[in-house]
Amino acid sequence: MTVGDKINCPYYTLNEVALRDGKTMKEVWVVIKDVVYDVTNFMENHPGSSEIIEEYAGTDCTKEFYQAGHSSEAFRELKTMKIGELVEEDKQVNRGRSQEKSQSLDDNSRIDKKDKRRSRRSFLFC
Ligand code: HEM
Repeated sequence: MTVGDKINCPYYTLNEVALRDGKTMKEVWVVIKDVVYDVTNFMENHPGSSEIIEEYAGTDCTKEFYQAGHSSEAFRELKTMKIGELVEEDKQVNRGRSQEKSQSLDDNSRIDKKDKRRSRRSFLFC
């Protein structure tokens, strides 16, 4: 059972959102600032075209939504389509942290390799 299967559960994973891409499942959901929106019925009425939303169906389109310079009316409209939020692990800040973590692990492994090479060299000089 996935998180979204729980009745009235307002928390969804990014994987659950990805299924709502208008193809895998007929609904269209998007994520903006860790909030999940059901834009299925709104798409056809989107002044910026339905195709543009189709492009981001099932994804986090925070950057694109803000870059489009939407008016306060657009933000008001958006609010009415909120169906939930992302689970803590999938929130933007945590996604960033996990990337940093793997980056620093990579860095450590690079340092480890360098240290090993250095210690091997010093062994040869002894
Ligand atoms: C998902 C929720 C969205 C809502 C509720 C929404 C709402 C709106 C509204 C009300 C407008 C009319 C202008 C305004 O009031 O700002 C608009 C225009 C526009 N939207 Fe969206 N939008 C959404 C998503 C997106 C996304 C993901 C993009 C991707 C870039 C986008 C791109 C645009 C563009 C380019 C226009 C300008 C159209 C024009 O002036 O010809 N929108 N949107």
